[in-house]
Amino acid sequence: MGASGGIGQPMSLLLKLNPRISHLSLYDIVHTPGVAADLSHCSTKAKVTGHMGPDQLKACLEGCDIVVIPAGVPRKPGMTRDDLFNTNASIVRDLAEACSKFCPEAILCIISNPVNSTVPIASEVLQKAGVYNRNKIFGVSTLDIVRSNTFIAQAKGLDVNQVNCPVVGGHSGVTIVPLISQCTPPVSFPQDEREKLIVRIQNAGTEVVEAKAGAGSATLSMAYAGARFTNSMLEALNGEEGIVECAYVRSDETEAKYFATPLLLGKNGLEKNLGLGKLLDYEADLIKKAMPELKKNIEKGEEFVNKKA
Ligand code: NAD
Ligand code: LMR
Repeated sequence: MGASGGIGQPMSLLLKLNPRISHLSLYDIVHTPGVAADLSHCSTKAKVTGHMGPDQLKACLEGCDIVVIPAGVPRKPGMTRDDLFNTNASIVRDLAEACSKFCPEAILCIISNPVNSTVPIASEVLQKAGVYNRNKIFGVSTLDIVRSNTFIAQAKGLDVNQVNCPVVGGHSGVTIVPLISQCTPPVSFPQDEREKLIVRIQNAGTEVVEAKAGAGSATLSMAYAGARFTNSMLEALNGEEGIVECAYVRSDETEAKYFATPLLLGKNGLEKNLGLGKLLDYEADLIKKAMPELKKNIEKGEEFVNKKA
């Protein structure tokens, strides 16, 4: 949903390449007939259909196993992700409402920012509709892991395919907490380099927003990350064991109601929250620093859905 956008189009292309996908159902408020016609000519297995506008939500969503949502406006230089709230909150609320009606059993993967608030928004909507399953709603924070792996591999001259650095917390500024001490293979940095690396990971979205100079935020790397997360979810739904991804979910691991940690995925979505593991003191401090912002973002999302009309 948001299939015609900067993320939606390249992510749809990557998903069209996935032999596990039988039907790729594209929804947007603009351009989906064209995107679907174009994509449908690729000689891969997935059937492609395009759906445009709210009248076509039912046709788009019925029968879906996974719904991926990158609908909404991106940042411009000088904006925070929270500045997108006023526009994107109602977009995610309305799309979650449609999912609650037309595919209440589906897994929801939410990319639209501010993720720290949009996941609570979708969760509240599904609760109100009586179809909430906390194991089936994921805020996609995969891009933070992708970036951490890339930057660490570059710094240490490692094969990036072998690097895996968990990133926990949320998906904005200080709420993004890379756990470099849990990276595989193990890596170590002098403190000043480590601090610079953490700040770069936390600000990597802004790095792209500034480089694009008003033309949006990360799209290609997000399409890559979104396709990776969706592929992992599909593998898990199909019964493959040992599939682990970090994502932002309803959580009991910290005092924040929603929190990203490594998750074991399974046939029904989130199978087991693998938690924070052993933290170094500076990592525990980073998590502590993330809490006020994270809690504020969560409450803002919940209040948006529950406010009196
Ligand atoms: P974009 O403007 O290029 O595309 C957004 C698409 O959403 C457009 O095609 C638009 O028509 C569509 N849209 C708007 N309202 C809609 C609605 N009600 N229903 C369906 N579709 C609707 O933006 P983009 O660069 O693709 O970014 C999309 C979102 O993803 C932004 O909120 C951005 O901040 C976020 N994002 C998140 C991450 C992450 O790591 N989670 C990374 C990058 C971007
Ligand atoms: C990102 O991390 O690239 C996205 O959340 C988009 C943004 O606004 O930075």
